[in-house]
Amino acid sequence: MNEIKVFVPATVSNVSCGFDIMGFPVSAPGDVMVFRRTEEPVVTITEVRGAEGIPLDARRNVAGVVTRAMLEERGMPFGVEIALEKGIRPGSGIGSSGASAAGAAWAVNQLLGEAYGDEQLVEFAMLGEQSISGALHADNVAPALMGGFILISRYDPLTLVRLHYPADLWCAVFHPFVEIKTKDAREILRKELSLREAVKQWGNVAGLVAGLQREDYTLIARSMEDVVAEPVRSLLIPGYEEIKQNALEAGALGCSISGSGPAVFALCRGEENARQVREAMEQAYRHRQVEWRSYASPIAAEGVKILS
Ligand code: HSE
Repeated sequence: MNEIKVFVPATVSNVSCGFDIMGFPVSAPGDVMVFRRTEEPVVTITEVRGAEGIPLDARRNVAGVVTRAMLEERGMPFGVEIALEKGIRPGSGIGSSGASAAGAAWAVNQLLGEAYGDEQLVEFAMLGEQSISGALHADNVAPALMGGFILISRYDPLTLVRLHYPADLWCAVFHPFVEIKTKDAREILRKELSLREAVKQWGNVAGLVAGLQREDYTLIARSMEDVVAEPVRSLLIPGYEEIKQNALEAGALGCSISGSGPAVFALCRGEENARQVREAMEQAYRHRQVEWRSYASPIAAEGVKILS
């Protein structure tokens, strides 16, 4: 195989209470990435379309960082040219850097004849995330690579768990165009929690996992509460409380920040409710002079997809 074109979906990470440990892909938006094998053992970014400010220097580009790490581990058997078409805006909170990292890990693995398994690919993809956010987190790259609702139950050793979820679990996403860099959104987090807060958070995580497994919508709804990131990060999102309130009033199971924001997501029961919730979230921005996009999508069972 000399050339491969892939679609990489956006992802919702954290999923309210699961800071750094849970995520799932949505069906849209996503990035399209083309990888071409070259004889000269060099990694080059030939083109970035659809977004500004993404470096063409492979050492500073998330996809470049992952590709280089994978090829270097194999002794640079060949080089790769990468062309990116960003459908996911950087700084959106729906896994823009995660998509570049996951797409690179998946596609380069194909060019290498599937030399690596899922866990190794997630480890490589995390290097891309680290290069931009300073932190090794897998809650965007693991679901983007693997599809479905993924739990990272441990980082050391990396332990990935595919969670069961109800077939009619949908998600509405509202993305106001205010850029928030994950690195900044991590720096403002409190570094310590009280025991009372920790008990609340791990109870909610356990409740959400059990609710998904048992298809218990009441338990899912009750567990979608985050005392770690949301109280601080929501202050960076204009109109956050109104977006959330509108989503809940329209019947969402729960609503919180997608990844590090500014996108806001809501879990919903079924497509119709997801569309109603999406519209309700949009209402919160009717009078604001800020552009936005919104989406309604099932939890995507598939991650990276081969286009050609
Ligand atoms: N878990 C990460 C964070 C996701 O919240 O910082 C970033 O997309």
